[in-house]
Amino acid sequence: MAKTKSAYFCQNCGYEAPKWMGQCPSCKQWNSFVEEVVEKSSSKVPEWRSTTTTTGNTKRANKAAIIHEIVYQDESRILTPDQEFNRVLGGGIVPGSLVLIGGEPGIGKSTLMLQLALSIPQVKTLYISGEESEQQIKMRAERLSQSSKANCYILTETSTQNIFKQIETVQPNVIVIDSIQTLHSAQIESAPGSVSQVRECTAELLRFAKETSTPVFIVGHITKDGSIAGPKVLEHMVDTVLQFEGDRHHVYRILRAVKNRFGSASELGIYEMQGSGLREVSNPSEIMISQRDEPVSGVSIAAMLEGMRPMMIEVQALVSNSAFGTAQRSSTGYDTKRLNMLLAVLEKRFGFRLSAQDVFLNIAGGLRVEDPAIDLAVIVAIISSQQDIPIKTSLTFAGEVGLSGEIRAVNRIEQRIQEAEKLGFDGIFISKFNTKGLDAKKYNIAIRPVAKLEDLFSALFG
Ligand code: TYD
Ligand code: MG
Repeated sequence: MAKTKSAYFCQNCGYEAPKWMGQCPSCKQWNSFVEEVVEKSSSKVPEWRSTTTTTGNTKRANKAAIIHEIVYQDESRILTPDQEFNRVLGGGIVPGSLVLIGGEPGIGKSTLMLQLALSIPQVKTLYISGEESEQQIKMRAERLSQSSKANCYILTETSTQNIFKQIETVQPNVIVIDSIQTLHSAQIESAPGSVSQVRECTAELLRFAKETSTPVFIVGHITKDGSIAGPKVLEHMVDTVLQFEGDRHHVYRILRAVKNRFGSASELGIYEMQGSGLREVSNPSEIMISQRDEPVSGVSIAAMLEGMRPMMIEVQALVSNSAFGTAQRSSTGYDTKRLNMLLAVLEKRFGFRLSAQDVFLNIAGGLRVEDPAIDLAVIVAIISSQQDIPIKTSLTFAGEVGLSGEIRAVNRIEQRIQEAEKLGFDGIFISKFNTKGLDAKKYNIAIRPVAKLEDLFSALFG
């Protein structure tokens, strides 16, 4: 028997070292090293490749080729009926691509992947689960009510060697692995979920995907503590990283491309979790704005951009006299530090007495907004609540607010204006610095440029 060999791995970034270290030299994390047994078995060639001639060690040496002689094969992407998913991938599934879907437990990764596997009857799919039994998966599929015509095979297996054997028999065109943390390869001794296992299994899947041109989707859990090797380790190995996120208490989920070798990395898709699975939300603005008969104070609508997509979203604020000595500030979906900054601007430059008042801010739909263009709507909602003056629901706002109360230009203003116009708004407040080269006559919506907050306040609150 071979001597047991072990190495130390950083649980944060996957850095490998021969001995224990207090701080990882790569990611500078402290106390992140754990020992893992990495004794390799005598054969280094994974089972599925033993029949092929190109082994890892005797790889055919590549020759340099001049670029115009390289034949570009038009990648025939597989289109799914899910338009959001296609868009996030950059226009469908690329053959031979390795895609990682990361997300917290319970967010809906398995649902999304099973739905994908069931929705493309034109190709054979293989859904491999190490977490659920065949019966459980079948139950879920029944719930998604798509299983009747699907060309989908289910395999519950965790050993990569057996998985590759099954793949050889089934010959699928698309493979889903749920999840990478449950897989183990016989090449490596350490436990499933450890850094070296996760890395080895991914490497095997990567070689398989590239050599057979089969797209492989890998589900990876993210945990808050570093006990399980997070998919961070894998991000540089895969072609595409998708992040599935959202608030578990809300129904909306966002699928975001974090890295994409075959498309834009700022795309995103929006889904709604229903009793019968995930439904695409193709027009997000309509849900993010609540329907009301009369305008109420403390509500404004921001023309914001999520990824590349313009979207109208409702911002709600509540300003009330503080019952305690220290005022509370709380925000959901918006950076609290940024809220404090805006409140300080309002207090210092415009004399609003907010320091003795509680301020609560909420972005509708459970979304987290990072687009700075939402600042203007946040300010309007706060002042509208404080003054108890409702804002007309036919108005929308897009602008970043600076420390002196100036309103700054934001990117892609034309897209925001078009979206607002399409949804029937009759006025949009934008920064004056955004009007350069903008043809206001082109639009059916009144464009109201403002340079400073004073201009905005006199236009809205008189
Ligand atoms: P799941 O896909 O198991 O999450 P993950 O794989 O990311 O851990 O989905 C978890 C939640 O989704 C679960 O709490 C139940 C809910 N759900 C629905 O609301 N509707 C459905 O049709 C399905 C299948 C799940
Ligand atoms: Mg799952």
